[in-house]
Amino acid sequence: MSDAQDPAAEIAALIAEIQRHDLLYYERDAPEIEDADYDALMRRLRALEAAHPELVQPDSPTQRVPGRVAEGFAKSRHLAPMLSLDNAFDEADFHDFTARIRRFLNLAEDAPLGFVAEPKIDGLSVNLLYEGGRFVKGATRGDGLEGEDITANLQTLKDLPRELPAPCPARIEIRGEVFMERADFEAFRAEQQAALAAREARKAAGGKLGPAVTIPVNARNAAAGSLRQLDATVTARRPLKLLAYAMGEASEAPAATHWEWLERLQSWGFSVNPLSRRVTDPAGFQAEMAQARPGLGYDIDGVVYKLDRLDWQQRLGFVGRAPRWAIAWKFAAEQAVTRLIRIEIQVGRTGALTPRAVMEPVFVGGVTVTHASLHNEDEIARKDIREGDLLRIQRAGDVIPQVVAVANPADAERGPPFAFPTTCPACGSHAVRPEGEVVRRCTGGLTCPAQTVERLKHFVSRRAMDIDGLGEERILTLHGLGWLASPADLFRLKHRAEALAGLEGWGGVSAGKLLAAIEARRRVPLDRFLFALGIRRIGEQNARLLARHYRDMASLRARMIEARIIGSEAREALGSIQGIGPAIAAELVEFFAEPRNLDTLDALLAEVTPEPLPEAAGEGPLSGKAVVFTGTLESLSRAEAEARAEALGARVTKSVSKKTDYMVVGTDAGSKAAKAAGLGVAVLTEAEFRAMAGLQIGS
Ligand code: IVH
Repeated sequence: MSDAQDPAAEIAALIAEIQRHDLLYYERDAPEIEDADYDALMRRLRALEAAHPELVQPDSPTQRVPGRVAEGFAKSRHLAPMLSLDNAFDEADFHDFTARIRRFLNLAEDAPLGFVAEPKIDGLSVNLLYEGGRFVKGATRGDGLEGEDITANLQTLKDLPRELPAPCPARIEIRGEVFMERADFEAFRAEQQAALAAREARKAAGGKLGPAVTIPVNARNAAAGSLRQLDATVTARRPLKLLAYAMGEASEAPAATHWEWLERLQSWGFSVNPLSRRVTDPAGFQAEMAQARPGLGYDIDGVVYKLDRLDWQQRLGFVGRAPRWAIAWKFAAEQAVTRLIRIEIQVGRTGALTPRAVMEPVFVGGVTVTHASLHNEDEIARKDIREGDLLRIQRAGDVIPQVVAVANPADAERGPPFAFPTTCPACGSHAVRPEGEVVRRCTGGLTCPAQTVERLKHFVSRRAMDIDGLGEERILTLHGLGWLASPADLFRLKHRAEALAGLEGWGGVSAGKLLAAIEARRRVPLDRFLFALGIRRIGEQNARLLARHYRDMASLRARMIEARIIGSEAREALGSIQGIGPAIAAELVEFFAEPRNLDTLDALLAEVTPEPLPEAAGEGPLSGKAVVFTGTLESLSRAEAEARAEALGARVTKSVSKKTDYMVVGTDAGSKAAKAAGLGVAVLTEAEFRAMAGLQIGS
């Protein structure tokens, strides 16, 4: 729930959201969003921080490198930092790399260098510390300086020597890659899918769920997830491989060249990639590996070239976080052409409509691809992607394939340009795209099945309705049973008290507590209620402004419906509330313009009574008074006058009645003024109103 008028709140929300995705990606190895969407969150956060430097939080994801130490593992500091590699993408890049080395070492332009080439496996690098020839500690790379201590997990790897035969240095760090072979990965994934299906079946039968099951998206994720198990016996059952390729800190130099070092590693019992080679023609080797790639039993995304002479490596050292003596020459992303069957629109948990290409299966980058993200409607328009087109797609070792371009743009037989839907495919509510944003969103937040669980979580959360005892797991259970489809259903759960108590893991006490917590919220302050509705951009602060301004839900509801018409008095009044800008006004109006939302809201209002906020402290002459304006005011607009009166606690109405306390009369006042006089209502001139409202003349 972002709040554009409250950058601090939006920053806090963005940080929480990004941290959640970091956790899913780095620690659970189960990303939920695509990189592009993650990047958009980061961009928004950076923009806000740039505009409000005083709001930059020390824990902001912009202030640190992700890939933190996971909770649950001890930290482990590497003796020598674990570096990354610079990339080369073509022969020219590689040539620059060798020219740099020769310049640095003061060698002739054609001096032979001598490289060792090693396939770059897409796995997880680990640091293995041996002392007195014994394996004493193993860690993930982490941020390069400090990783997670996964000694127990690494000890389960068959490829890892527990002891190094003499002679070996007293202390040495050995580095290598842990990964899963493709066939092992496929089998493991099938196993996980079966486990998930069994879990779903248990869930449907109301039985015990057992531990959560994640389906890894690729071999790298599977390896990472397996290595980061808190229970090492789980790791032991996973088909992990280890290939050694580098050295960290060493008490004495174990070799003079990298090649000798690899031989040394093998003599100690490590596996070294058998495709590693001393090369004189890197470009030739690169081409050879690109060809061999699909037939290898594991995923590689390039070749690492390391200068063979260790004394040269020593002299060259590092620049930034990468060595000058090594480079990763990446393969070009593999491309393929296939037919776009249709564009499917998915609705995310926050209502974002995301288009996805459904394609004829095609083998690319080592996997069969049937889907690709199309990101958003602008992307489709920019690339002019139409259903039935031939698409050139690529997979750069990533999880999600990308659409490069339409392969048949000049084809006369192409279908019509794609019309992006303006209604939500999940619930039929209208889907809108606020000005300046790329994402179109469903406005049926309360009703849309794609968003229900997320909305319910927000609805019951502490700062919203504050209903205790209803975590995500329980919401999912109740939602799955069909007992909880909208917020109003919460208040009807009392009719299922017995069934609730009988649910796995609930019991009478816990069900009773929950029902009591729900009953206690049948009356809530209006601002909490508004915030709980989860209307986009209506955070706590804006909810409070609205609650103060409109006082009760009935007038707010009525005024929002009137405010649909741009230029209407209700819209002007809404826009004139201090703190409510046009973007917020638009979101509010959209929400109330959706009949499905009104139905859901009214169902909820049949159960819950939102209560006006207590009068602001220090009551003034207008607080609690019913005020009507008529005629044209000279010194301020009608909207501003009304907003001012409301801000001071007055209720502004349109028609005069016996209940009216004051009528403010401008010029050209019509029949209302006469009626007011007849009813004995106190009539104020504009000047008198200004005085009462504390407005100075000329201000
Ligand atoms: S050497 C200072 N050799 O690539 C040299 N890395 O971008 C540091 N990798 O984190 C690494 N195969 O996970 C090296 N044969 C290989 C490699 C390799 C894969 C990965 C490793 C590292 C990343 C660096």
